[in-house]
Amino acid sequence: MSQVLVASNRGPVSFSLADDGSLTLRRGGGGLVSGLAAVTGGGREPDDGCAPPDVLWVCAALGEADRSAARRAPEGRLDLDGHDTGGAAVRMLDIPPATFHRAYNAVANSTLWFVHHLLYDTPRVPHFDARARRDWQSYEAYNAAFADALARDAAPGAKAAVQDYHLSLAPRMLRDRRPDLKIVHFSHTPWASPEYYRLLPDDVGAAVLDGILGADHAGFLAERWAAAFLDCCEQLLPGARVDRAARTVTFAGHVTRVGVHALGVDGQQLRARAAEPDVAERRRALREQVGDRRLIVRIDRTELSKNIVRGLAAYREMLANHPEWHGRVVHLAFAYPSRHDLPEYREYTAAVQRLAAQIVDEYGTATWDPLILQVNDDYPRSLAAYGMADVLVVNPIRDGMNLVAKEGPVVSEHGCALVLSREAGAAAELAADALVVNPYDVSQTAEALHQALLMPPDRRAERSARLAAAATALPPRRWFADQLAALD
Ligand code: G6P
Repeated sequence: MSQVLVASNRGPVSFSLADDGSLTLRRGGGGLVSGLAAVTGGGREPDDGCAPPDVLWVCAALGEADRSAARRAPEGRLDLDGHDTGGAAVRMLDIPPATFHRAYNAVANSTLWFVHHLLYDTPRVPHFDARARRDWQSYEAYNAAFADALARDAAPGAKAAVQDYHLSLAPRMLRDRRPDLKIVHFSHTPWASPEYYRLLPDDVGAAVLDGILGADHAGFLAERWAAAFLDCCEQLLPGARVDRAARTVTFAGHVTRVGVHALGVDGQQLRARAAEPDVAERRRALREQVGDRRLIVRIDRTELSKNIVRGLAAYREMLANHPEWHGRVVHLAFAYPSRHDLPEYREYTAAVQRLAAQIVDEYGTATWDPLILQVNDDYPRSLAAYGMADVLVVNPIRDGMNLVAKEGPVVSEHGCALVLSREAGAAAELAADALVVNPYDVSQTAEALHQALLMPPDRRAERSARLAAAATALPPRRWFADQLAALD
């Protein structure tokens, strides 16, 4: 198979600097990396007929340690011998810190992420002033740095898979530099409807659409996000021609196909990881904390769109309405730190911690912790919690897909009931066997938690098995191969 270049802000690994100046590696987090890192199966023989491509993964250096690793690497390619990157060679771009900060924090995470996730209700954003214009120029420079690197490293006719809202201008920039390449852009987020998208300044909104339309194929995780993208092109990009039946957009003499590629999990790989001794060790520790009580689990980045505060409020309401659960249930909430350069995220973390403490104050006793909130990131502990959960709560305001909803049932040992927001992309595949909620409706979520706890074990196991089957139907390698195939 020919060369494939992957481009994303966060790469499969990132570095930290030890006290003695040496670099240590850890795996990148988040749905995008989880999906893509499995692309070539980490050296495992593919069992689904998709040959592993020759992949070069271009990503940004995310901190000083990454930058120093990037500078040490000849030609920018990192020597990652022995580290699992799914078989990809990795090139980290050393983007100037101020440019990176403005592109990543100000434009990608405060502006585009907020629009696509309907989070525009804080006093700080939206605020398009002279400073935001400067941030936007940095976003352009950041995208150009990726386009330059891809244009330099791509073999003739190679395929380039450009990922997510950080890199929405890069496809057009790359096409201008290398018209011989085949380019796909993939959005891991929801896409805003035109009413919301037009909060962006007109030229910014149009530039983002135009940037993505530089690709030959624009991929989304769910039908509704693809449909919203077509709506935005039709209503907000003068000169764009949308063909709904063919699902194409013609703009500036070029045709872009729009496709839906749901992302699932690799069941075999995930179950094997969950069977490792470090997971068993975490399970023993959790079992000691929880005892034989029923267990409600949630696992998120501490992210505004994940709706953790309303989820905890729903648990509190369930305890208020159903005292029969007092002493008989524990809620494990894992909320891992995320994007703490942004004040909204720091404030949100504090709000989650405040509410968790209130619930413990209100209901806790000398012998019962109703809620255990953990904020340190521990992947084996997450797998242990999935295995033990009676109920898994996934209640985002909006989510491109949400892989927690898919991983939980796959790892579950005796079947878990899934309380799932209708606004998660995953609901398109999982709704039939989940308890589906409106994420804003705290009372409905509280009642769903109660019903989930009451579900008879055999019924729960059946539904959980069907959820696991749906979750593994499109493993990452299939998802990625389908996007590449769409370029042929
Ligand atoms: C979402 C985005 C990814 C991102 C991840 C983690 O899944 O779609 O592009 O990598 O969140 O966020 P972070 O800002 O830590 O990379």
